[in-house]
Amino acid sequence: MSMAGTAMTRPSAQEDDATAEADPEPWPAAARPRPGGVTQIATATAAPATATATATAQAVLTRAPAAVPAAIPRTARPVPVSATLAANEVLARRRQAGEPVLPLAFGEAGLPAHPALRQALAAAAGGNAYGPVAGLPGLRRAAAGYWTRRGLPTSPDAVVSGPGSKALLFGLLLAAGTDVALPQPSWVSYAAQAALIGGRPQFVPAAPGAAGVCDPAGLARAVAAARAAGRRIGAVVVTLPDNPTGQLARAEAVQGLAEVAAEHDLIIISDEIYRDLVYPESPPFASPAGFAPDRTVVTTALSKSLALGGWRVGAARLPEGPLGRDLTERLLGIGSEIWSATAAPVQHAAALGFAEPPEISERISASRSLHAAVARAVAQRFAAAGVSVPAPQAAFYVYPDFGPWREHLARRHEVVTGPALAALLLDRYGMGVLPASAFGEDESVLRLRVATGLLYGETDAERERALASPDPVRLPWIASALDRLTEILTDLAR
Ligand SMILES: Cc1ncc(COP(=O)(O)O)c(C=O)c1O
Repeated sequence: MSMAGTAMTRPSAQEDDATAEADPEPWPAAARPRPGGVTQIATATAAPATATATATAQAVLTRAPAAVPAAIPRTARPVPVSATLAANEVLARRRQAGEPVLPLAFGEAGLPAHPALRQALAAAAGGNAYGPVAGLPGLRRAAAGYWTRRGLPTSPDAVVSGPGSKALLFGLLLAAGTDVALPQPSWVSYAAQAALIGGRPQFVPAAPGAAGVCDPAGLARAVAAARAAGRRIGAVVVTLPDNPTGQLARAEAVQGLAEVAAEHDLIIISDEIYRDLVYPESPPFASPAGFAPDRTVVTTALSKSLALGGWRVGAARLPEGPLGRDLTERLLGIGSEIWSATAAPVQHAAALGFAEPPEISERISASRSLHAAVARAVAQRFAAAGVSVPAPQAAFYVYPDFGPWREHLARRHEVVTGPALAALLLDRYGMGVLPASAFGEDESVLRLRVATGLLYGETDAERERALASPDPVRLPWIASALDRLTEILTDLAR
């Protein structure tokens, strides 16, 4: 463990807020501050991989803790860099240093912006006024049309735009103002955001085969346990399809969750950012908004389906009725104080994206095929090496489980935790992945989140070729990344 690991500034029970006294460890693993602002991978708490591997990985991954300026009170909660962003930074540094990398840590769609969207953005560059907090009328109309075409009739008044769905999710958690239940595992930022706003994220394991959706009975138990402890879980997040697993929960699981949410008066926040990247052979998509329309907020964005993550634009669909009105008002109040409005030129381009003219639909469809081909090929490489891995069903994520290798990893590499495994892969092979603990799982779990979207090429020309290719895994740069993965797994298995 590096020194940085011991010098963490997590507030002590005395320094922390009043709730800390009731629970000496109010930070859930995924939300817990990390040394020096870097991530779960850096905290290979475990038995060191090898002394050199862990020391080097941690030297690379762990920043010295920043000195807290006197102006920030010691009671302020440290805010670590999001696990995915931090891992990406580490890989970028290694690449700059000329070291080989296999970039599988960052959930980036890895494709160029479509020319029509670039043109729309450029044409709107003169739009320099702030504009309404909820978004420009054209964007709200386009997003309403997007949902209406997906079987969720939506009025433009029900749409609120924001600078990315991450900001909207934060606003919604803040607007809900209670503790929140999260599926375990789930995307890194939910728990971190919930902790930032002073709530207590409660992980509820997803039922088998229902990734991204809390097991309904487990959710009911968590709500009751929180109530018995004098707290209130007032919201539950679902991710359809899911990051980190790349899986899509079936309609029955979503319905079961919606029923428990109704019984316990919970707001459902349905993060559907990957909805348009569900592979054609996967189960049909079902939103909780179909089962519990008056209590479900749906969020989406163009960051994944159109690879516009850096443009920062997302949209929320608020429910009709009193709860929806209340939440909308609160969300707009929060937005007005934090981001004012989404960048106006970006909203114009996003309106085109949400309107889905044929060239945009074709682009999404081509990217879906590319994601499916590469994620499946990556999953096959893990499976061929004897690692257990569910077949990906959506987006660009694979969630292999090194459980079958547990004894070997302990004996041969002294690795007994997911963070230690991720650190070993990064240090020895330059392979960036995130351990399951970044998504709320226990550190002893040997699952890794493998994101495949950065394998499509180094240049826009290569990425366009990958998009256009009927068999992208045969392109030399993708094939060589896959072979490198096999090489690494083969070496690790020795
Ligand atoms: C599940 C999930 N939700 C939300 C987001 C946030 O995306 P954005 O803020 O770009 O809309 C991400 C990004 O990785 C994600 O994976």
